[in-house]
Amino acid sequence: MCGIVGYVGKKKAVPVLVEGLKQLEYRGYDSAGVSVIGSGIETVKATGKVAVLENKLGGNDFGSMVGIAHTRWATHGKPSDRNSHPHGDCSGKISLVHNGIIENYRELRDLLVAKEHKFSSDTDSEVVAHLIEEFAKKLKFQDAVLAALNEIRGTYGLAILNSDEPEKIYAARLGSPLLLGVGKNENIVASDASAIVKYTDKVVYLDDGEMAVVGSDSYEVVTIKNKKIQKKIDTLDWSIEQAQKQGFDHFMLKEIFEQPEAVSNAMLGRLLVKEGMANLGGLKDVDERLKGINRIIISSCGTSYYAGLIGEYMLEEFAGIPVEVEYASEFRYRSPVIDKNTAVLAISQSGETADTLAAIREAKSKGALALGIVNVVGSTIARETDAGVYNIAGPEIGVASTKAFTSQLTILALLTLYLGRQRGMSEATGKKIASELKKIPKYIEGILSQKNDIKKIAKKLDKYSNLLYLGRKYNFPIALEGALKIKEISYVHAEGYAAGEMKHGPIALIDKNFPSVFVVPKDSVYEKTISAIEEIKARGGKIIAIATEGDKEIAKLADEIIYIPKTLEMLTPLVAVVPLQLLAYYVGIGKGYDVDKPRNLAKSVTVE
Ligand code: G6P
Repeated sequence: MCGIVGYVGKKKAVPVLVEGLKQLEYRGYDSAGVSVIGSGIETVKATGKVAVLENKLGGNDFGSMVGIAHTRWATHGKPSDRNSHPHGDCSGKISLVHNGIIENYRELRDLLVAKEHKFSSDTDSEVVAHLIEEFAKKLKFQDAVLAALNEIRGTYGLAILNSDEPEKIYAARLGSPLLLGVGKNENIVASDASAIVKYTDKVVYLDDGEMAVVGSDSYEVVTIKNKKIQKKIDTLDWSIEQAQKQGFDHFMLKEIFEQPEAVSNAMLGRLLVKEGMANLGGLKDVDERLKGINRIIISSCGTSYYAGLIGEYMLEEFAGIPVEVEYASEFRYRSPVIDKNTAVLAISQSGETADTLAAIREAKSKGALALGIVNVVGSTIARETDAGVYNIAGPEIGVASTKAFTSQLTILALLTLYLGRQRGMSEATGKKIASELKKIPKYIEGILSQKNDIKKIAKKLDKYSNLLYLGRKYNFPIALEGALKIKEISYVHAEGYAAGEMKHGPIALIDKNFPSVFVVPKDSVYEKTISAIEEIKARGGKIIAIATEGDKEIAKLADEIIYIPKTLEMLTPLVAVVPLQLLAYYVGIGKGYDVDKPRNLAKSVTVE
C-alpha cells in the first residue's frame, strides 16, 4: 500500500517529511526513505520502521526545503535498503516515490536496459525514474514526466523531484490515493490527509489521470494529456486519527470498504480474461513440478483456513486435483502422509502465524512442494515457501480479517484457473470464470452501498445472545466465517454449520430467541437450503437471509433479507461474505466494543 509525502516551502523539509511518514506508517512499515534537494539530490533509506530512518538521518536536514519521502509496503522486491524508495535515474538528477503497481514494468525495464540504463533495485517503481530520464533527453522535464505517465500501465501515486528545478515537486495519481495540502508559503503532497492535517486543513484531492506541479506558493494541475484543470479546494475537519482511517470510524470498516480495490489488486496483471487464464508469476519457477502434483493440502488458521475450505471446492471442481484442508495446528503434530507429489499450500495474511509456519516446515521436511498465499511481502512464510502468490491487499490493521479474506479467495480462483487450464479445463470454462471474476469488485461496491440497511438489521440482532449461521456447498465456509466474525468482535455466541447437517443437532437449539443467518444464493443447492429454512421456520426460528437479487421465494420465508448480485456459484463466497462482515461490524459497535482490537485476540499469532 505504501505512504507518500512531499514538502515544498520555507521550513526545513526533513523534519516535516519524517513527521508525515510517522502518520502514514500504518500504510506500510517494512522500510522508509527520504530524498531532498540540497547541493544535489540527497537520499537516505533504511529497512525497518520510520524510527530507523530517523536514527540514520541523525538530525541532518541537508539545509533543504524541498523533498519527498516514502514508507513502504513491499509488492515487488523484498524489503531491503536497496528496494526502499525513493528511487533514482542514472544521472542522479531525478528521485521519486511510488505507491501502486507498474504492470508493464518488465517490458519497460528490458527496453531501458537495452538503452543502457542501469537499475539499482528489484522494484517496479524504479522503471518510472529511468523512463522520465529517457524522455527528458528530448523533452522539457514536465513533458517528459507526462510522456512517461502515458507509457506506464497499472496504478500509481507518484511524487517526483528534479534537481534542475529545486523548488518543485511533481505529483501524479492513477488508482492510488494522492492529495495536496495547500498551506501558506508551503504545500504538501501526501497519500492521505493524516500527513498534512498538522499543517493545513485546505486540500485538493487529485483525481485519476491528473498531475500537479507544486511550488511553495503556487500549484498547477493538468491531466496526463496535458490539459489544464481548475481544482476545488476542500476543507478538512478530521483529526490525525480520523485521517489515517480516511474518515471511517474504524480500520475494520475502512478495510471492508477497501475490498473492491483489494480484489482488483489481486487480479491486476494476473487475470487474462480474453484467454480465460491466469498468469501467476510467483509460481513460474515451480511450474514443471506443479504439473506432477497429484494432491494439495491447504493448511492455515482462522479466517485464512475458511478461505482454504472454499479453495478446496474450487480446485476439486474445476482443476480436478484432490485437495484437503487442515488447521495448521492439527497438521503439524499428527504425522500426515505426504510425499514429493504433494503440494502444501499455506494461506496467511501475516505470513507469521506460528502454526502455519510449522506446517510448512513439516511439509518441506517430508519433501512436499511448499506454496504460499501471503499478504505481507518478505514475511517468514513468504520466505520459507518454495513459491507463492502475494495478495497485494495492503496492510490489514483491524484484527478481524476482512479484505485479506476476499483477496485470498480471488487468488484461489486465479489458482484454479492456472492449474485447471494446465489440466484440461476448457477455454470456454476458463473464459466464463475469468470474465465473472473481473466483475466481482463492482458487485462488492453494490453490496457496500447497502450499508445503512445492514446497519438496521444489525440493530434488530442486538438483543440476541445466540446465532446460528448456515450455508451449503461453497457457502458453508462462509457460514463459518460469518459466525467467526460476529464472535470475534461482538462477543455474541454464534455457531457456523453446514445447512444440511443442521438437522443432526443444532436444530434442537432453535426457538424464537435463537435466530439463524442463512447464506442462500440461487445456486445448485438452493432448494436444499430452502428446505432447511422451512425446518427452522416450523420451529419458530427467525431467519435472516443473504439471497440473490430477484429471488422472490425467499421473501415469503425470511424475516430480513440482504440481497447480493448473481454470479457464478464458485464466486458467490466473494460477495456473500461482505454483508456478514458488515453485520458483525455493526453489531459490535452497537454494543460499544473496540472492533479494531477485540479482547483476547491478536492480529498475528506468533506463538503456538
Ligand atoms: C489471528 C487473526 C485472524 C486470522 C488468523 C490467521 O487469529 O485474529 O484474523 O485469520 O490469525 O492469521 P494469518 O495471518 O495466518 O492469516
